[in-house]
Amino acid sequence: MGIGDFRIQYETAGLDRPDLHDDPVVQLQRWYAQAEEAGCTEPNAMTVSTVGADGGPDSRIVLARAIDESGITFHTNRRSAKGAEITADARAAAVFGWLQIHRQVRIRGTVSLAPDDVSDAYFASRPRASRIGAWASPQSSPISGRAELDALIEETERRFVDVDVPRPPHWGGYVLGIDEIEFWQGRPSRLHDRFRYSRNGGSWRVDRLAP
Ligand SMILES: Cc1cc2nc3c(=O)[nH]c(=O)nc-3n(C[C@H](O)[C@H](O)[C@H](O)COP(=O)(O)O)c2cc1C
Repeated sequence: MGIGDFRIQYETAGLDRPDLHDDPVVQLQRWYAQAEEAGCTEPNAMTVSTVGADGGPDSRIVLARAIDESGITFHTNRRSAKGAEITADARAAAVFGWLQIHRQVRIRGTVSLAPDDVSDAYFASRPRASRIGAWASPQSSPISGRAELDALIEETERRFVDVDVPRPPHWGGYVLGIDEIEFWQGRPSRLHDRFRYSRNGGSWRVDRLAP
């Protein structure tokens, strides 16, 4: 079958306003838990889009590590392309695609630095090899080949031999604060259910959107 012919009918149960929690963070936590229970592949993987230096969008997948009232936290090298883009323009968007359960969640908001204690705790929980990699890899910079990366790793391993690997100053968490979030549930004949929460003063306005 060619890519143009691939088509799945979404027979999943519908989504109605009473199914949704008034707090979109609670709703997102619920859907995340359901995606995990349903066995979705890497349910915490989300595509994050930032604004590039040329004003165009730039996207990549990262792993969400927390969902709470402050927003959605992910961790990365702050000297990476995404780090530079966030420093220049904090606006970002993210998408979770839980395809096995025909769900999508889209988020728009503003990114801020995660508190140091959150970045420290998460970094400390990573396997040692990943912590070494965070120091060694100049994420998003061109390198001459795999040999250069291997040499950087070896050099970093020598630097931290027999000691704990601390969090690099250029590595840590970002929190995408939620200004707008849409929950999308696939339905038969492409007549999907969509609900968008937008900030309305201190509360949330919820609109059903046409599919
Ligand atoms: C499933 C998956 C999970 C990923 N998780 C992360 C992550 O949590 N943090 C990260 O920095 N990069 C992660 N990456 C790599 C990024 O997609 C990207 O290649 C890298 O962060 C550099 O992006 P940038 O050049 O736009 O800064 C992940 C990639 C995939 C496919």
